Amino acid sequence: MRSTAQIKSHPIHPILVAFPIAFFTGTLLFDVLAMLSDKPNFRDGFSVTAYYMSIAGMIGAVLAAIAGFIDYLYTVPPESSAKTRATKHGLLNTTTLILFFIAWLLKRGEHNSYYLITGLELVGFVIMLFAGWLGGTLVYRNQIGVDPRYANAGKWKEERIHTSDKEIEVANTDELKLNQMKLLHINGKRIVLAKTENNYVAFDDRCTHRGGSLAGGAMICGTVQCPWHGSHFDVTTGAVKAGPAKENIATYPVNERGGKVYIVL
Ligand code: FES
Repeated sequence: MRSTAQIKSHPIHPILVAFPIAFFTGTLLFDVLAMLSDKPNFRDGFSVTAYYMSIAGMIGAVLAAIAGFIDYLYTVPPESSAKTRATKHGLLNTTTLILFFIAWLLKRGEHNSYYLITGLELVGFVIMLFAGWLGGTLVYRNQIGVDPRYANAGKWKEERIHTSDKEIEVANTDELKLNQMKLLHINGKRIVLAKTENNYVAFDDRCTHRGGSLAGGAMICGTVQCPWHGSHFDVTTGAVKAGPAKENIATYPVNERGGKVYIVL
């Protein structure tokens, strides 16, 4: 599903994470060199380089975290395996940031210990590697931030609606092409509006297997396929047509009148 923090469909978080990864790695390397060096001039040079790399890494990490947190809140499907994975990813990266920050504070003190500082950075580096692995899974398997195109069905569509109405206007009747979907956030609830050969339909965005976003899948001939493990659902009845999902998805009444499409909740 398309990232919320994006520029022309390019997610900002993966662009920014390269900076803390590079600078924190550099920080550790230069502090190791400083620790191993027996020449005071070299040692001081390595230490100063590591000190400023650490600052750059922390700034990059905070910026990456802001973009990542926006996607965590608004893009990663709620109550899904990806949400659990994204929570671990965020907490581990926060731990890395804290460890490098503590190491940086220690460097500012008068009696700093190379062993303690480098040890903290090494632990932070290893945690960062594991967090990065989880981040890769979120992108390459869970497709967080992927903007899908399929079957001439047009670009990703998404809208947030806050209302107390029971019948909610969600689109113009000519807004979607055949087999195109639109992800709606109605008072925080994720619902997919889709156009079939016969009419408009609405169904829960959440796959009943592990919570994949159906809006990020593919729809054809009245069937939507989950992008994570391939479950098929009938978009009119919500019935499972193929597993691994076993439970049906919820569907919602849709009315069309006066050139507008309405969902009844
Ligand atoms: S989450 Fe597994 S098939 Fe949808």
